[in-house]
Parts: sequence; C-alpha cells; structure tokens
Amino acid sequence: MTRLAIPSTKLPFALSFLYSRIRAAHTDIPRISFQEYRRKTVQDPNVSSARTIDERRTTSSVSSFVASVAALYGIKSHVLHYVSFMSPSRDILADAQIEINLQNTKVGAVSIVKWREKPIFVYHRPQSIIDQEKLVNLSILRDPARDDERTKRPEWLVVIGICTHLGCIPIPNAGIIPGGFYCPCHGSHFDGAGRVRQGPAPTNLEIPPYKFLQNDSILVG
Ligand code: FES
Repeated sequence: MTRLAIPSTKLPFALSFLYSRIRAAHTDIPRISFQEYRRKTVQDPNVSSARTIDERRTTSSVSSFVASVAALYGIKSHVLHYVSFMSPSRDILADAQIEINLQNTKVGAVSIVKWREKPIFVYHRPQSIIDQEKLVNLSILRDPARDDERTKRPEWLVVIGICTHLGCIPIPNAGIIPGGFYCPCHGSHFDGAGRVRQGPAPTNLEIPPYKFLQNDSILVG
C-alpha cells in the first residue's frame, strides 16, 4: 500500500485544498421567492403598508361579501329542499279544502261530502226545523249551544257526520227529534242543529271550519 507523504510544511495547504473540495453546505440553492403570491401593492418593501391598507381592506371586504352570499345561497337551497320535502303533496293539499255546491241540496235534504276522510253533513233546513231548534231550552242540553252559534246561515247546518260517542256515522233525518240525526251504534240522538239530545254521545256533532263563498257554495277547510 502506497502512502502519500506530505511534508509538515505543506500540510496547511493540503488541508485547505481538501476542504475546498468538500461541499459543506447547500449554499448555492436559490432562495424561494414568494413574490408572485404577494399583492402588487405590498411587493415593494420600501412602501409603508399603511399606504395600501384601504385597498387591502376593500379587497378583503369584497371577498368576504362574495363568500357570504355564496354560503347563504347554499343554505337557502338546502332549507328549500327540506321544506319542499316535508310539505304536503298536491293531492293532500287538494283534499285539505273542498268547495261544496249547495244548489243540489233541496230543502229538507242532507248532502254527504267526504273531507279529509270524514263525512260532512250539509243539511238544508226547512223553516220548521229552524224554528224548532231556536226554541230549545238550553238548560236541557248536555252540551249547551244556541242554534245560531252552530250555523252561519239559519237554513244551512254543516257538521262532521261522526258520532261523538265512538265514531259511528249517524243517519240523517232519523231518530226521536224531527229533522235530527240518529246513531244506531248505541242509540244517540242529535237534533236539527247537531246537538246531542239523548244517548251516550257526550258532545254535539262537531262543526268543521267553513265559509260561504257565494250564496250557492261553501268552502270547507
Ligand atoms: S258511536 Fe254513536 S252512539 Fe255510540
């Protein structure tokens, strides 16, 4: 093995030469510049940032506003989606209200119409029944109510045709009260204003929400 003999006087030069060949640090890598990501107004390090604060604030405000509008629009779309999902369908809405033509119901007759799966009795009362119900002494009634409290117009009685005892459908123009309703299930009698007069029914026949549209039609619901 051959040995390299370096005189002691040449040793510093030799070491200097050797170190110059060793790469001790990556000092030749260029520094990363973020200049292109900076706003033009703040690229010059000699310009005070206070001079550009208005412009930067405006940019931030506009960005925030646009982001807020986009977020609100997204929220609105979501809310509308869930509201429309939970709202009733058109057939249910159509069933929620019905218009009843009164022209086909002769004096003394009862028309039966289905509303929200319930029968609605529309009774065209003759004057004799109106007079009869007006004269009823309220003290004898189980569920006291004046006749004019149960009708919007005296000649028309509109009630839900479901017995308030256990839910049977009473028979119109039947029972012990002339022009009244009779429930054959357990023998409840209602008068010509739908008020319970005899039998186990605890309350009068229920009156649905309705209003007169013209003289010849009503809107139930
Ligand atoms: S359900 Fe009508 S009297 Fe019982």
